[in-house]
Amino acid sequence: MASERTLILVKPDGVQRRLIGTIVSRIESKGLGIIAMKMLQVTPELSQRHYAEHVEKPFYPDLEGFITSAPVVAMIVEGPEAVSVMRTIIGATNGREAAPGTIRGDFGCSRQMNMIHGSDSVESANREIDIYFTADEICAYDAVLGAWTAASDE
Ligand code: RTP
Ligand code: MG
Repeated sequence: MASERTLILVKPDGVQRRLIGTIVSRIESKGLGIIAMKMLQVTPELSQRHYAEHVEKPFYPDLEGFITSAPVVAMIVEGPEAVSVMRTIIGATNGREAAPGTIRGDFGCSRQMNMIHGSDSVESANREIDIYFTADEICAYDAVLGAWTAASDE
């Protein structure tokens, strides 16, 4: 089972709604580990790098306005198949369609104000981690719980 890293943001609405702790709790309860974390203000330039695939889309101006409207909390989350596991616990983009039990399904009803970002592939994760973090901000450590959270042949 491949250990992966993924880039997670608690978006401005999640920060404003005091959901940082709830979201961190969901990630840790699932069995994934946080190896880097910081609060920052996303600038228009940073938004354009992060959301490069969306910059030409009609909704991009609203997306940039939203993601730059208040601070975010950026994290690198690590663990077995962390990219897809995080996308599963985050839920569908639109909170009105996201399944109950997912973060977006449990805490929101909006397509834009959907509280959390998670990388959509390992390639995206590597690109986004490089955008948000420098190597010396990453605190990799031995995950001693690993032996208690999955069998050796998984
Ligand atoms: P994210 O990248 O933020 O984790 O969200 P996602 O993968 O679920 O969705 P994505 O397609 O990458 O879209 C990025 C963000 O853009 C906004 N959006 N608006 N008006 C629209 O049609 C539309 N489509 C997407 C959402 O805020 C979405 O999270
Ligand atoms: Mg996306």
